[in-house]
Amino acid sequence: VLNSTKDFHQHKLNTLGWELTVCNALHQDGTGIRKILKKDASFGYFLFDHLCGFCDMDRVRNILEIGGGYGYLMRDFLDRNPSLEPVMLDISPVLLEKQRETLKGRRVFFREEDFLETDVSTLRHFDVAIMNENLGDFPTLVDIGKEPLQVGFDHSDPTIRKAAGFIKKYGLELPEGDLCNVNIGALEAVEKLCVSGMDLIYTGEHSCEASPPPALRSHFDMKPSYNPERISLMGHDEYSIRFSHLEQVARSFGYECTRGPFADFIPLRETDEGLRSILASRGRYSDEGEMVYQFVEDLYKYEYLILKRTI
Ligand SMILES: C[S@@+](CC[C@H](N)C(=O)[O-])C[C@H]1O[C@@H](n2cnc3c(N)ncnc32)[C@H](O)[C@@H]1O
Repeated sequence: VLNSTKDFHQHKLNTLGWELTVCNALHQDGTGIRKILKKDASFGYFLFDHLCGFCDMDRVRNILEIGGGYGYLMRDFLDRNPSLEPVMLDISPVLLEKQRETLKGRRVFFREEDFLETDVSTLRHFDVAIMNENLGDFPTLVDIGKEPLQVGFDHSDPTIRKAAGFIKKYGLELPEGDLCNVNIGALEAVEKLCVSGMDLIYTGEHSCEASPPPALRSHFDMKPSYNPERISLMGHDEYSIRFSHLEQVARSFGYECTRGPFADFIPLRETDEGLRSILASRGRYSDEGEMVYQFVEDLYKYEYLILKRTI
């Protein structure tokens, strides 16, 4: 089975309200979530500052954001560096409209497009690409037996042949068990960005390889499965990402990889007594506690991968 969200994003999606992304959760100031962070800021500011450790973000002009949702991240980026000339590429006409509203008055270009159909030659002009919380929306091959994916097996289905091709070309390891899921769309997207030769590529998404740090392990039931897991959302399913596979693709193109949980660049006020008691009670005693607990869990479930071109 090939899980696809294309029809949903093109024709059915009318809000991101059902899938609160980390970016959208940090959008509003004065919330309980903002209070548990070392800095009271929105997602784009945290990310921009983090990326400054990898390239001179103040000198970047040509930036591509794929799947920009409501456009909040790019609004923050433009506040930090008003000389950016962003292109927002999105499959969803509804979300592109929201991005137009959010980014009104700024010099921004919009492209309605499925990134998997984007011609790589149109990407060469960009210095930086941003993909936040969308790789899981890209096609995933689900419940596939391992035999057809193995070297020497000639399968007639082109999608299975494509997945087998990735596994062979990049030496990807498959998880234990008879059946597995393969993030075929995410692999293709990262391969395409690497082929284009961009200087810096950022991706962030729900990971199937994440685990909490030792100090927080008793608070969360989070274990790496190494097999992309289904996440059922309103009107569609998406899959968590096996980031080590994406790293392998990027390394083969000479990219240096830096990877970690979102908590690396959205640091918590770990000594805060209120936060400690919310985590100890797993957020059971209030609505705000539950929201904060889930947000902190997300900061460890979501991983980022930054690819920096070295050749
Ligand atoms: C879960 S939202 C994340 C939005 C935003 N980046 C954030 O973090 O809040 C996924 C975004 O990816 C877009 N998207 C999904 N599949 C896509 C595709 N194949 N090509 C381009 N954009 C896509 C969606 O329309 C949406 O804007």
